[in-house]
Amino acid sequence: MPDQPRVHVFPHPEAVGHAAAEQFLRLVLATDPAVPFSVVLSGGSTPRRLFATLTDPPYVDHVPWERVHLFWGDERPVPPDHPDSNYGTAASTLLDAVPVPSANVHRIPGELEPERAAETYEDELRSFFDLDDGTAPRFDLAFMGLGTDGHTASLFPGSEALAENRRLVVAPWVEKLDSYRISLTCKAFNNSAFIIFLVTGGNKAETLRQVLEGPAGRYPAQLIRPSEGELHWYIDSAAGRLLEGAGE
Ligand code: 6PG
Repeated sequence: MPDQPRVHVFPHPEAVGHAAAEQFLRLVLATDPAVPFSVVLSGGSTPRRLFATLTDPPYVDHVPWERVHLFWGDERPVPPDHPDSNYGTAASTLLDAVPVPSANVHRIPGELEPERAAETYEDELRSFFDLDDGTAPRFDLAFMGLGTDGHTASLFPGSEALAENRRLVVAPWVEKLDSYRISLTCKAFNNSAFIIFLVTGGNKAETLRQVLEGPAGRYPAQLIRPSEGELHWYIDSAAGRLLEGAGE
């Protein structure tokens, strides 16, 4: 039975970034040093503060980067050096500044035709996690974002991808973006051991209120419920200003 989401409110986005980095460090140090630690990075702009924090002490020195394996929750259909690339954002703000081995960086090949990118990434996940057909990876930690329409990763409202219960990675057409995206599915996310949504900014407040306190099943972000794991929301006070008990 999925745990109840736990909401942590911080005074500003920098504090969200620090708390997320601290939790990442705590989790990786709590796991067996002989095995890889798998982290899914989210896209968009919110994780930039987390990435920047991880490039500073104590994280740059204390995270055992040699056993951290990085994955992405979604990607845009662009090459890795394109300004819209989620991998590109992480490369320039994190990967270039921490000693994570390049073999540990498992980017979604956005330069490929979208369906081929999805199939290729699914193969990479199955290979890395040694998955039988139909089983899902167990990421140690997954960071997620939230769009103002309630999407997360590239799982958008009304998308057929929301009902995908066999594949781990899909390449949905996103009407509102007039573009394909490549995204992990709820099946791929919901076997994670620990999921943290990072949400900052007053523009997310109404969506966050509806996602956390409104009727279930209305937003893609509400479909992210780890079956045997923890679900946490790290938000700043601006994003949380409409939540019950806010400002008490
Ligand atoms: C993407 C993300 C997406 C993002 C949200 C929030 O590729 O854009 O994966 O799901 O997390 O849209 O984006 P911001 O952090 O920029 O608000």
